[in-house]
Amino acid sequence: MTRRRKIYEGKAKVLFEGPEPGTLVQYFKDDATAFNNEKKGVITGKGVLNNRISEYLMLRLAEVGIPTHFVRRLNMREQLVKEVEIVPVEVVVRNIAAGSICKRFNIEEGTPLPRSIVEYYYKNDELGDPLISEEHITAFGWAAPPEIDDMLSLSLRINDFLTGLFLGIGLRLIDFKLEYGRLYDENEQMRIVLADEITPDGCRLWDVETNEKMDKDRFRRDMGGVAEAYQEVARRLGITPESGQQDIKGPSTIQ
Ligand code: TMP
Ligand code: ASP
Repeated sequence: MTRRRKIYEGKAKVLFEGPEPGTLVQYFKDDATAFNNEKKGVITGKGVLNNRISEYLMLRLAEVGIPTHFVRRLNMREQLVKEVEIVPVEVVVRNIAAGSICKRFNIEEGTPLPRSIVEYYYKNDELGDPLISEEHITAFGWAAPPEIDDMLSLSLRINDFLTGLFLGIGLRLIDFKLEYGRLYDENEQMRIVLADEITPDGCRLWDVETNEKMDKDRFRRDMGGVAEAYQEVARRLGITPESGQQDIKGPSTIQ
């Protein structure tokens, strides 16, 4: 890492000042946490794979008209993104019951949900990202009603698209978490864009044939083979770091 101004350090990523105004460099670490930082570890190579996986998915989503913060990948661990004001609401979309919804409603893991369920969580580590409703979001001013509408409709479109994309490579998209940001243009017009990352850190992906978990649950549940699972997701997407020389070249090779 070069000596640049650090803007923010999260659990799995660092944001640095970008090369031009309105941009940031998003650096992917190998660090992994679970249960709001109670469990900590390092998954060697995770940052490199997540950088690739998120790049790939953000580009595919942009192709179908989803606005995102992604600009281009810079190197093995870094991507250039547009600077946005992060909405402090995590949007979770669930297709099949797993994780916290199983506990909350005593549902067996793997039960298909009657329809896709969208949940909101307040992005606040100190509080452990509590589940919230639209009422909390608007009452506390975390997002305005039209912004919630945008986040909801984008999340459902993203769910439809990614469900198909992953099924095509033999993976079932069980659930995932998204974050959005406010992007201001030259005229101070604002629009909601997809931000953060889409990687196996924040998705549940199960093999269609075997139901094998191919995501961060392997870390959360001490199942082993975490890096191998991320590698396999990247391999099926056709984007393993070994498959190209892009890492040593400049940004012009991307897109
Ligand atoms: P959950 O079942 O623990 O509520 O998680 C639902 C999905 O959201 C799962 O794919 C993991 C992801 N997630 C995050 O990415 N970050 C978080 O802080 C939490 C709680 C979940
Ligand atoms: N990312 C969250 C944490 O670190 C929760 C999780 O993914 O399980 O604590």
